[in-house]
Amino acid sequence: MEDFLASLRELEEAGRTAIVSATASEELEQVRIEFLGRKAPLTRILRSVGELPQDQRRSAGAEANRVKKRLLELAEARAAELSAAAAAQPVSEIDLTLPGRARWRGSRHPCTVVADEICAIFKELGFSRARGPEAETTWYNFTALNTSLDHPAADEQDTFYLGDDTLLRTHTSPVQARVMERSQPPVRIVVPGVVFRRDPFDASHAPAFEQIEGLAVDEGISFVDFKASISYFVHRFFGADAAIRFRPSFFPFTEPSAEVDVSCAICGGDGCSTCKGTGWLEIMGAGMVDPAVFENVGYDPERYTGFAFGMGVGRIAMLRYQIPDIRLLYDGDVRFLQQFQSA
Ligand code: PHE
Repeated sequence: MEDFLASLRELEEAGRTAIVSATASEELEQVRIEFLGRKAPLTRILRSVGELPQDQRRSAGAEANRVKKRLLELAEARAAELSAAAAAQPVSEIDLTLPGRARWRGSRHPCTVVADEICAIFKELGFSRARGPEAETTWYNFTALNTSLDHPAADEQDTFYLGDDTLLRTHTSPVQARVMERSQPPVRIVVPGVVFRRDPFDASHAPAFEQIEGLAVDEGISFVDFKASISYFVHRFFGADAAIRFRPSFFPFTEPSAEVDVSCAICGGDGCSTCKGTGWLEIMGAGMVDPAVFENVGYDPERYTGFAFGMGVGRIAMLRYQIPDIRLLYDGDVRFLQQFQSA
């Protein structure tokens, strides 16, 4: 009888430990079979009660049943705990078999792509890159460029002033004066940069946009050099078939001045909605540097001549990629920008 009770207590303790330390329902089921199943020692002990002397059977049987009942209750409680814990787990644990998601890859903005390409073409002609400040003085933005402050371009309506004498530059041309002031000819620079105008934000205007300025100054630079350099650029950028046209124009800082058109690549020059039926698209303002500008920066206008040009980068990007609305360039919509990933 003593042995009987001792082995029962041992079983009870081993069973209890195994049940409470089971960490998953499947493990608990194994434990249940081990301690309470048909072939479990406890079952064998219960069956052997009948072999005990008559007077011990009742208390031995009661004790064995108590142990069985306790283990059953413990197993039930543990099963409930485990299924509650499983339900509290987040549904989507990391599924290592899922295929990976491609990483987001940034790319250059179409304006940057075009600006870099334009600068690279002018580099072939010996032009290096220069930069200038976006907050500019009225002197560099207007006066040094032979533009009096009562010129319409200087009108407060057209310009973002930061004070009486400072403003957000309305074009990249002030960098012409800044570079000439600090260096002697020969000068050959291209100047990419953002400019600001109090323009409406519509399909063809933006209040902030990128320009590229160009300036070449040396002894003996003629209108032929001007036309040849611009033609070289147009053919390198738009292709050998592109036709080019110089139209007389006016800028206070160039004389003579021209606006440069290229044949519309969309209709091939026949006339379409993009070129407004003319077959031509304007790409830049340009001209021979006005002698008054040379005087303002301390160059001898009798000795030096040169040419300058300024173009809107967004405009040219729109032509190249057939973008119908300039605002697309500034919205930052990833669906739009992703199309230029290979550019
Ligand atoms: N600065 C002029 C503009 O913004 C363009 C230009 C540059 C014209 C250089 C002539 C020479 O419209």
